[in-house]
Amino acid sequence: MNKLTIVGGGSAYTPDILLSLLREKDLFAGWHWVLYDVAEEPARIVASLGQALVNEAGAEVKVTYTLDKHEALDGARFVLAQPRPGGLRHRALDERIPLRYGVIGQETVGPGGLSFAWRSIPVVMDLLETSLQIAEPGFWFVSYTNPAGMVCEAVLKKYPNARFIALCDEPSGVQREIARFLRVEPSRLEMEYRGVNHAGWVDHLYLKPAPGDEGEVKDVLPKIRSWARWIPSLVAPTGETFGTIRLIKEHGSLPDPYLRYYYYRDVIFSHLSRLKVTRAEYLMHRVEELYTHYEREAARPRPRLRMHRGHASHSDLAASVILTLLSGRRARFIIQQRNEGNVPGLPHGHAAQFPADVGPDGWHPVPVPPLTERQSALIRRIQDAEILNAEAALKGDRSLAIEAMALNPLVPSKAVAQKLVDELLEAHREFLPQFFDGSSSS
Ligand code: G6P
Ligand code: MN
Repeated sequence: MNKLTIVGGGSAYTPDILLSLLREKDLFAGWHWVLYDVAEEPARIVASLGQALVNEAGAEVKVTYTLDKHEALDGARFVLAQPRPGGLRHRALDERIPLRYGVIGQETVGPGGLSFAWRSIPVVMDLLETSLQIAEPGFWFVSYTNPAGMVCEAVLKKYPNARFIALCDEPSGVQREIARFLRVEPSRLEMEYRGVNHAGWVDHLYLKPAPGDEGEVKDVLPKIRSWARWIPSLVAPTGETFGTIRLIKEHGSLPDPYLRYYYYRDVIFSHLSRLKVTRAEYLMHRVEELYTHYEREAARPRPRLRMHRGHASHSDLAASVILTLLSGRRARFIIQQRNEGNVPGLPHGHAAQFPADVGPDGWHPVPVPPLTERQSALIRRIQDAEILNAEAALKGDRSLAIEAMALNPLVPSKAVAQKLVDELLEAHREFLPQFFDGSSSS
């Protein structure tokens, strides 16, 4: 039986991903979807909801869950990996600890992101290693695992030939927002994103004519730029939307929204340090409500998803990539893979994020204009820290981790870097055998 395995299958994100896959349910006739997780209760709930949604869609798919890695990966044709080692509880530590040192605490950016990589990278390495042994030959490994850039960097280093694509929904999310604003179909927009994960810029945003229409492709970024000028600068750039608008105003380019953490670090730091709960602490309650909803819907004769963990672009992106690969079609996505010179201004041979045509024969980068020096200076610094940190995570090398931490633009000094690394390693100790056991996965 053909098999698609979702690692972290019990995640609250999974039901929407399954629904998006069901858009082309005929491609999965006779398939087995396996939800693999380390926690039984959420996996059980999501699998039963998944089967209910499948039945409601009239699809011929079996949905099960397992806590056994070998059972999960054995014979898989697709692995969609979205594990979060340590769950929200450990994400909250990555968000809280840096604040005590006067530094932004965030899941994928700054010290929290570097720390998350120490947990995620060995898990993804192990999944790939096992998949190479027991999954179906030629399997595809699609990864949503955060921090996506460092995970991609580690994979390229250890498994350069794996059929691997890393994803982030940020560019397609921004694209969807802009499409809504322009009142056009998101698929008519094409973004020339280039950078790394959660740090990159777009200087051309093309609007293609509607299908069947004559007409020219036009760049709508100048229009967005002139709109951005009307937003008063009094609005704090702390949130995603206003942070993005402020960056457009000041730089004239469309940013990855996460760049606001670097350019507006002071105001964002004071905002975060005033909040009573961190994002992960808030989400712990939110996901409880989601699972209650999922369980209720699974038991109903006509299940419907009325509550969602993420934006539509999240489930849509992962599903579209898998559906494209499975159907033998070709489509353009912004992916993360090796920069083979296609992202001018960033180092060759390392992970980057860029548009690519994805099809049965793999991915092919689409040419993009070079980053300007003003854009790439910061991205290179972020990336240098990430490259060192990916290696530190693979080897369990504490002094390399400190060096990486000190290089990150949000960290003020080597002394602070050292304290952050010591405290974060200790806080996540149970998930970091490579740093504590003397064992190494490199
Ligand atoms: C976006 C980013 C992801 C990130 C998520 C956080 O989707 O692209 O990388 O994990 O936001 O959202 P959350 O709701 O967990 O704060
Ligand atoms: Mn992302």
